[in-house]
Amino acid sequence: MQGPQKILPADAFYDAVAMEYNSHMTENDRKAREIISIEFGKYVKSGNILDFGGGTGLDLPWLINKSNYQLFFLETSYGMREVAKANMLEGPRANEIFFVENNVDFNKWNLNTLPFTQKIDGILANFAVLNSIPNLEDFFEKIALICNKNCHLVLTVLDSRLSVIFRKYPLKNSIKYFLQKKLVLVNNYNNVSHKTYIHSLKELKSSSKAYFNYISFTPVRFSNFALLVLSRK
Ligand SMILES: C[S@@+](CC[C@H](N)C(=O)[O-])C[C@H]1O[C@@H](n2cnc3c(N)ncnc32)[C@H](O)[C@@H]1O
Repeated sequence: MQGPQKILPADAFYDAVAMEYNSHMTENDRKAREIISIEFGKYVKSGNILDFGGGTGLDLPWLINKSNYQLFFLETSYGMREVAKANMLEGPRANEIFFVENNVDFNKWNLNTLPFTQKIDGILANFAVLNSIPNLEDFFEKIALICNKNCHLVLTVLDSRLSVIFRKYPLKNSIKYFLQKKLVLVNNYNNVSHKTYIHSLKELKSSSKAYFNYISFTPVRFSNFALLVLSRK
């Protein structure tokens, strides 16, 4: 008989799935990633670019192709980060990517403990990184510390429009979301799990508004994601 699922923090969960993560990507994921890369390019033309929660580095090939981007890669899961580094090792310009190894946990950031000294002009947090993060206000406050004015944040989050929630999730969960405007799900994989936080647009806007201007929230075709775009005030 199978024992109870173990709920892990996000970094330990992603350590456990790191070696298999890329093999779960589908053709629709590839198409969605392409759409997101085009959107990112519309907002971020050049400068220091951070791939936040970059995972196994699936966005690095298109990011590195843009010669006017200086790349920073931050990923809290050691396992995911090692896959990303190994995949990029041989590529052209690979040695130009700054893989953050210290101060990876934004919760501990302050002006004296940032992961790098440079300020960032564009941040990508792709494929639901924010859905691993419960404390959005802290997240936006800390991220603001590393941004240049007008830095654009391009974040894909699980689409949380009510119509989508009712279509996608069990009725009990959907009603809970309707009433509380929040939903915490448990995402299982083999014998490990982690919590997935569904954030409403209202919550995303209110938690970011002290530091960021809201630009748009648009569903991404071929995926369950919506693209949230913000800019640093
Ligand atoms: C679904 S994966 C997406 C990975 C990658 N961005 C992609 O597009 O394939 C979510 C990633 O967010 C990372 N993550 C979760 N919480 C994080 C945090 N607080 N800081 C940085 N990365 C985080 C996880 O370790 C995981 O690699």
